[in-house]
Amino acid sequence: MKKKVGIFYGPTGGKTENVAQRLQQAFGQDNADLIPIKSSKASDLDKYENLILGCSTIGKETWDADRTKEDWDLFRPEIEKINYAGKTFALFGLGDSVTYAANFVDAMGVIANIMLAKGAKIVGQVPTSQYNFTDSEAVIDNQFIGLPIDEDFEPDLTDQRIASWAEELKRLFA
Ligand SMILES: Cc1cc2nc3c(=O)[nH]c(=O)nc-3n(C[C@H](O)[C@H](O)[C@H](O)COP(=O)(O)O)c2cc1C
Repeated sequence: MKKKVGIFYGPTGGKTENVAQRLQQAFGQDNADLIPIKSSKASDLDKYENLILGCSTIGKETWDADRTKEDWDLFRPEIEKINYAGKTFALFGLGDSVTYAANFVDAMGVIANIMLAKGAKIVGQVPTSQYNFTDSEAVIDNQFIGLPIDEDFEPDLTDQRIASWAEELKRLFA
């Protein structure tokens, strides 16, 4: 990996932001920028060829909910406007594999499916065998499309998950 990584994430102020910061540290501060998705447009991603997108899942219904829009809700129309040519993406998703075992990190799958339909190159898939859950929209072709992180019930595993995923991405990114 020679080129800088753009880490776009949301929401801010919670566990997703915390994991985004730890990922930035794994790449080294000089090698990765940290940018809230809520203040971004599709064109802001054009500065980067290597991109990591982070989200949390607060219920599938939130996508369509009639409430103040924020973070990924705001960016959602932009996902389809991204110029995917020449870019490599990796996704991470915060979730809770115990309370929401049947919808574990669903939002990561929702975002990924829109991107894949547009021809996005997504790397950094993770085997489902490393998690206990019952169902997830983020399982695509029998593996997680990105890195699930469960800070609610498996916080002890987060450091190792971040470290090994970041090492893999360093090899896969341009
Ligand atoms: C109201 C609510 C709904 C949630 N729904 C889901 C869910 O459907 N799937 C899941 O994996 N996690 C779900 N979670 C757990 C969060 O994704 C998890 O706590 C995450 O770490 C929160 O990240 P944040 O602090 O960046 O928002 C939910 C949490 C809340 C409070």
